[in-house]
Amino acid sequence: MSHSLKITFEGFGAPLRDTALVFAGEGAVLSPEASAALGETVAAVERAAKGERFTGKALASIVLLAPPDTEAARVIVIGTGAADDGKPLDLSMLGGTAMGLIGDKPATVVFSLDGRDSDAENAAEFALGLALRNYRFRKYKTKKDKDDEARGKPAGVTILVDDPAAARKAFKRRQAIADGVTVARDLVNEPPNVLYPASFAERAEKLGKLGVEVEVLEAKALRKLGMGALLGVAQGSVREPRVVVMRWNGAANEKDAPLAFIGKGVTFDTGGISIKSAGGMEDMKGDMAGAACVVGLLHALAARKARINAVGVIGLVENMPDGNAQRPGDIVTSLSGQTIEIINTDAEGRLVLADLLWYAQREFKPVFIINLATLTGAIMVALGTEHAGLFSNDDALSERLGEAGKATGEKVWRMPLAPEYDKLMDSKFADVKNAGGRHAGSITAAQFLQRFVNDTPWAHLDIAGTGMGAPASAINQSWGSGWGVRLLDRLVADNYE
Ligand code: BES
Ligand code: MN
Ligand code: ZN
Repeated sequence: MSHSLKITFEGFGAPLRDTALVFAGEGAVLSPEASAALGETVAAVERAAKGERFTGKALASIVLLAPPDTEAARVIVIGTGAADDGKPLDLSMLGGTAMGLIGDKPATVVFSLDGRDSDAENAAEFALGLALRNYRFRKYKTKKDKDDEARGKPAGVTILVDDPAAARKAFKRRQAIADGVTVARDLVNEPPNVLYPASFAERAEKLGKLGVEVEVLEAKALRKLGMGALLGVAQGSVREPRVVVMRWNGAANEKDAPLAFIGKGVTFDTGGISIKSAGGMEDMKGDMAGAACVVGLLHALAARKARINAVGVIGLVENMPDGNAQRPGDIVTSLSGQTIEIINTDAEGRLVLADLLWYAQREFKPVFIINLATLTGAIMVALGTEHAGLFSNDDALSERLGEAGKATGEKVWRMPLAPEYDKLMDSKFADVKNAGGRHAGSITAAQFLQRFVNDTPWAHLDIAGTGMGAPASAINQSWGSGWGVRLLDRLVADNYE
């Protein structure tokens, strides 16, 4: 929902626009391309660097107004640090930092890095950072935001590179990823009176334009299937539940087993009869961040025409207290046939996922199954907002997720699963209960999910700390972060295409 940013690539030597942005390595050395572009302004830049004690430290910056009669009115210098200190430079963070300084001014970036690769891939990754930083959710603001760094429509950024054609090509797939992140962020940021199961499903249907097959299952179909766990959560709401199945067939063989992605889509979580306290409850509009990520990911995969088959399944429900709401003590029958005793109606996400996991395994026999869910407050106690919790029955898949996390900055931390924890979910009256005791809350939630997983490689990502409300960063200023789109796109690109 933000003004999209126009990013173009040209060769070195093209004229500079209002703002010129260059990079400096350790010791504040400008690259030859930067010096050439700035011409006589170089002396002013050097003077400003000294005055500001700017040493070229990674992501440090100085901004100066150029002397009269120079091509650019404003010059920004961003540090890229020592190239040989073993620390890789995060190019998207560099782009995000740049965009924060550029604001809504027309800008030219001289993409030449001291001692580092300034190739098309790196330029495209930088541009991805620009696009991610540019995101705003202003839809419901009727007045202009005085403090916003980009008050107006962004004027666009031109990036000067060695090989513009190669950079344009490399950026094309980054644009698909940026659009996928935007889709996910928009969904998480929308208020719950606007985004509820039926309207969320309608948004997901828009993926049809990109060639994704979208099927929406309504309450009647869910009852017929026997999704008793999901329906139990939904029964306290006047908003009917939906399950959306999204299929992208990009592999040479349409029959190849798909990669499956499953998302918790609780469009608002009051806790139900086990009602939450009032403070901060408004944040529970984001309890569908897992589902939002799955939609954003399918958008990215389809928009960049990924050569794999993928299926996304999201469960959309609203968890409300009501005369007809589910009670603690109720026993429901899940799609798998296992019965579940409801101990706490606020442990609703796992009930939704139980039926989706079973459905996806039975219908699609996927290569792997990854679910994303804002599942437990306890994962924030354990990991804060820096890592998502990773629970998995498969070491190879965990390893790959760990690598993709390091590469994208969307980091995961593996947590344990073990029979001793599983026992904590045994129920007095049914096959399993939906809440364990006070201890190890994120692990017992994962153990619950595992009871609905057969021998398919499976990973559960608990994104309660990362999907929403995480601190702003160079590439994300939005409450809804769109976390997971870049991670999973990378997992797919590096291992399955
Ligand atoms: N949606 C919440 C988890 C959550 C909390 C996400 C805070 C983001 C921020 C989930 O449905 C929930 O309520 N979990 C309970 C489980 C408990 C009742 C076993 C929790 O974490 O307290
Ligand atoms: Mn809950
Ligand atoms: Zn929830």
